[in-house]
Amino acid sequence: MRSEYDDVATEYDQWVGAGSALDDSTFTELTGDVAGQEVCVVACGQGREARYLAGRGAVVTGVDLSEKLLERARQHEETQPLGISYRHGDAHTLDGLATDAFDGAVCYMSLMDIPDLDGALHSMARVLRPDGWFVLSFTHPCFKSPATGEIVDHVDKSVRRTVGKYFAEGYWDGPGAHRSALPVGAYHRTLSTYVNTLNAAGLVIDQLREPLGDTPIWREVPQLLYIRGHLSAVSSARGGI
Ligand SMILES: C[S@@+](CC[C@H](N)C(=O)[O-])C[C@H]1O[C@@H](n2cnc3c(N)ncnc32)[C@H](O)[C@@H]1O
Repeated sequence: MRSEYDDVATEYDQWVGAGSALDDSTFTELTGDVAGQEVCVVACGQGREARYLAGRGAVVTGVDLSEKLLERARQHEETQPLGISYRHGDAHTLDGLATDAFDGAVCYMSLMDIPDLDGALHSMARVLRPDGWFVLSFTHPCFKSPATGEIVDHVDKSVRRTVGKYFAEGYWDGPGAHRSALPVGAYHRTLSTYVNTLNAAGLVIDQLREPLGDTPIWREVPQLLYIRGHLSAVSSARGGI
């Protein structure tokens, strides 16, 4: 079991800031006060969001498929210990993690990299306690689809995003096509697939966020979509959907 990210672990680690903790105001707002809470960080990579949460007092378990990124995460933990426990594992099942074990579950900038969305969301629901919460962030499927581009308006010189192949769900690839220059692909799904799969897993949406980006194009349309929600009472009462 390995991840595409094993091949780009060094570049990815540097790109997201090596040992620094995540600095993302939308994530901060959506996760809220996590002090004393047990939080599972699914697809944690080199651990930037795990470090942020542990720094705010959470007891964090990070899981990822990439041994190489986990190596980086453990090195960062050794340099600056925050009590984070990192495990090699598959988000599709979260095998080895107990049912009803966590107050919160986070999947930051990773859902589009995970092949089996249904398996991953059901597994997140399984490990959450009955009143558990979750926070997700991923590339906005309406504006990052397999055939997107940019055109310049000749009149006001503003840049416009073009979107194509929105209904082409599945793996798409191409160096630089997905993000930065990293040669990794991603799984495209429509917005309705995301929402309906969350619903099927018993995960209820409380809030959506589409933050303004920091380049002109991403101030016109959202690059990222964030979701905060909770485990449905029906789901936890009947032992999962
Ligand atoms: C874009 S990286 C994000 C990593 C980290 N959350 C961050 O924001 O830096 C996507 C991550 O998803 C992980 N991943 C992909 N499929 C996975 C799976 N089935 N189980 C666990 N992790 C997976 C990759 O190994 C990679 O670390």
